[in-house]
Amino acid sequence: MARMGRIAALLNQKGGVGKTTVTLGLASAAAHAGHRVLVVDLDPQGSSTWVLGHDPAADQPMMIVPSHWGPEVDVVPSTPGLHDHDHHPGEPPHHLRRALHRVAGDYDAVLIDCPPSLGQLTTSGLTAADLAVIVVDPAALGLRGIGAVADAIDHVWDNHNADLELAGVIVNRVPAISAEADRRYDELTRIVGRKAIWQPSVPQRVIVNQAIGERRAIHSYGARSAEVSEVFDKLWAKLRKAARS
Ligand SMILES: Nc1ncnc2c1ncn2[C@@H]1O[C@H](COP(=O)(O)OP(=O)(O)O)[C@@H](O)[C@H]1O
Ligand SMILES: [Mg+2]
Repeated sequence: MARMGRIAALLNQKGGVGKTTVTLGLASAAAHAGHRVLVVDLDPQGSSTWVLGHDPAADQPMMIVPSHWGPEVDVVPSTPGLHDHDHHPGEPPHHLRRALHRVAGDYDAVLIDCPPSLGQLTTSGLTAADLAVIVVDPAALGLRGIGAVADAIDHVWDNHNADLELAGVIVNRVPAISAEADRRYDELTRIVGRKAIWQPSVPQRVIVNQAIGERRAIHSYGARSAEVSEVFDKLWAKLRKAARS
């Protein structure tokens, strides 16, 4: 049976907000549910490539390889050469779109982990995507520039991909108790509207950081990660719902 195969780009021009963490959390939830996903690592730094068991080493053409997480998760590894593409536009943004549309039907979803910029690579990611998901960190500076992200989505919608839809905003790394984070959350609500923010938010937890460092799926920690795993299960369900509508 053909799978859903919708393509989601996770983006923010800021680094360190959790694009990679959320992409991999969703992939972990998908695998745990027995769904198949393809993670496309568009960041030249190759964090998700590394966590999924590969070294973003030699300059090689983009290709799909199995991840070390199991048969449910494949990955298009990043290569350092991607960096040049971001700064010397030349590659038409539709190249990635055509390539991913050919394989999307083999997966329940394709997750594009975008680099921390709004350059050519993120444009390519958005041109290939059906859904744009903005990842934000409620820390003081994390919300700045969300307007620029929305503008980038608009630009791609206008020029390259009229199928693109802003699916929503995932809030990552919410500390347990912080009046400052609460204020930032309220500010975000004013900027994007309550309905655009996906529930639940992803809490700040040591186990999230540990899973990344140990190159493991968050669901592989059992009871130790149950709280966070459940959050990603819900966000994965939400993504699937957004992909159906
Ligand atoms: N919810 C979280 N709890 C704890 N640490 C987190 C959380 N989200 C991200 N981190 C850590 O913050 C760092 C940056 O996250 P990352 O996903 O690489 O950001 P980005 O891809 O946006 O640059 C990583 O070391 C990651 O482990
Ligand atoms: Mg990243």
